[in-house]
Amino acid sequence: MASNKMSGSLNHAMIDGTEAKAAQAMADRFGEPGYDDITKVYIAQNYAGYTEENQETWRILYDRQMAYLADHASDVYLSGARSINLVRDHIPYLEGPKSVNTFLQRLTGWQSRAVPGYLPAKAFFACLARREFPTTIVIRPKESIDYLPEPDIFHDIFGHVPLHADPTFADFLQTYGKAALLTNDPVHTDRLARLFWFTVEFGLIRESGQVKLYGSGLISSPGESKHALDSNEVERRPFDLETVCATSFEIDHYQPILYVLESFEQLRDAMNSYAERLLNEAPATASA
Ligand SMILES: [Fe+2]
Repeated sequence: MASNKMSGSLNHAMIDGTEAKAAQAMADRFGEPGYDDITKVYIAQNYAGYTEENQETWRILYDRQMAYLADHASDVYLSGARSINLVRDHIPYLEGPKSVNTFLQRLTGWQSRAVPGYLPAKAFFACLARREFPTTIVIRPKESIDYLPEPDIFHDIFGHVPLHADPTFADFLQTYGKAALLTNDPVHTDRLARLFWFTVEFGLIRESGQVKLYGSGLISSPGESKHALDSNEVERRPFDLETVCATSFEIDHYQPILYVLESFEQLRDAMNSYAERLLNEAPATASA
């Protein structure tokens, strides 16, 4: 989720051009009169902008994390990573025949689209509703490889995108985007933010009797992935949509509460029911 402000710690040269500034303006004002074309928040990946050090950072992160995930991530994540040809050798391409998007297109129709930085909530939801994932293209600096508070391409592609290859998760995420776009009720907006946090970002799932990782914030974090599965300080609760939507969270430390799905069908079905409810309430809550 490209949900936090970029700081000066990333390679800004790649996202400082005129195209990026225009895209950011569309994102920031999305929904105002004249600012309604969500496709204009997207930019080119400008792949030549990656330095050799950026590529090395990707390889280090990939090697370290994939070794752990082989036994600890959801099979759905691992098989998605293989299906989109996520590899250690290079930062993923978003464009061209070898891009993750070429594989995703055939599998679920989802696409990862480069964005210049932070997307406000409505613009973010509008992308998801189109089966498009706003993707940060810059990568963290090698000197802060272990901790980056904001999303980068390692978080957004390595962490999020393999699940978009799974038809059930793919449908869930689009329904989430449509529902979040539909409501203007701040109560529902808060509830939906919590649902995203405890599933897409920090979700666990039980597979063959074992609790596994699937949330991107866990998948892409060497420290928190282990903590989420092993620590006695983490309360792992069974997933229940109403309970999740009522659980508040803090972003600046390891999560003390996590929710465990029994299947992605459980998540998709719960989201479908919630979306239906919002649709029925829409005349009273949505302005358009
Ligand atoms: Fe995220």
